[in-house]
Amino acid sequence: MVQLSLPKNSTVRKGKVWNKPESKAGAQWRKFEIYRWNPETPDNPSIDTFHIDVNDCGPMVLDAIIKIKNEIDPALAFRRSCREGICGSCAMNINGANTLACTQAIKEIGGTIRIYPLPHMDAVKDLVTDLTNFYAQHRFVEPWLQTETPAPGKEWRQSRDDRAQLDGLYECILCACCSTSCPSYWWNSDRYLGPAALLQATRWVKDSRDEATGERLDALEDPFRLYRCHTILNCAQVCPKGLNPAKAIAELKKMLVERQL
Ligand code: SF4
Ligand code: SF4
Ligand code: FES
Repeated sequence: MVQLSLPKNSTVRKGKVWNKPESKAGAQWRKFEIYRWNPETPDNPSIDTFHIDVNDCGPMVLDAIIKIKNEIDPALAFRRSCREGICGSCAMNINGANTLACTQAIKEIGGTIRIYPLPHMDAVKDLVTDLTNFYAQHRFVEPWLQTETPAPGKEWRQSRDDRAQLDGLYECILCACCSTSCPSYWWNSDRYLGPAALLQATRWVKDSRDEATGERLDALEDPFRLYRCHTILNCAQVCPKGLNPAKAIAELKKMLVERQL
């Protein structure tokens, strides 16, 4: 039988227990376990434990993480910006599901709150993952309007019906929750574009003003870039904006078949 073993430095060890809960009138302590890894030390990754009085903290998981950084461990690394589900930067894995820390309420999670970086990405530090490939894939689908017709004096006009075709596509905030929950993307992220980039590809293919539809579809007609989607649907389940990349990918596949008829 083949025996597989992980590299020694990939083993996650038990980390530091920071502030033990103290008796405090009216306090409601919750335990947070957070993945830590610092590339500047030779140490293995660890899971550190923190305790937060949720009666003295904002309601979302991101509020607790910010409180930890401000009051307990300033070295904790994570991304965030808008704090209202718009920028997509606070995506992480919370109790096994990829989501936005700023829209995930603490009270909706029972027991210990376990926080890891987005899965199957290289870690930069702690909860920060390397999104270089993810953004390169977004760049690959050329997410901007392409036209041959000379630009109109004022604006590119679009009927209400044509504009409605973009609903469910334009709202993507590029958080990467979907791509990093997709098993096909885990195994082939170097060649499969993944649900986020393909949702954006669909957004531009379906834009009535765009005149590069044929070239866009040509670029996707590839066994890996598009056809590695096996309709597993993890992407639709995790999207914090309620979008359905799997449906968009199915529409792309249908368009590719229809243009051959
Ligand atoms: S439906 Fe396609 S893109 Fe979505 S998780 Fe499954 S394989 Fe990945
Ligand atoms: S489709 Fe949803 S989960 Fe995927 S990147 Fe866009 S907003 Fe995030
Ligand atoms: S901080 Fe912007 S989406 Fe969470």
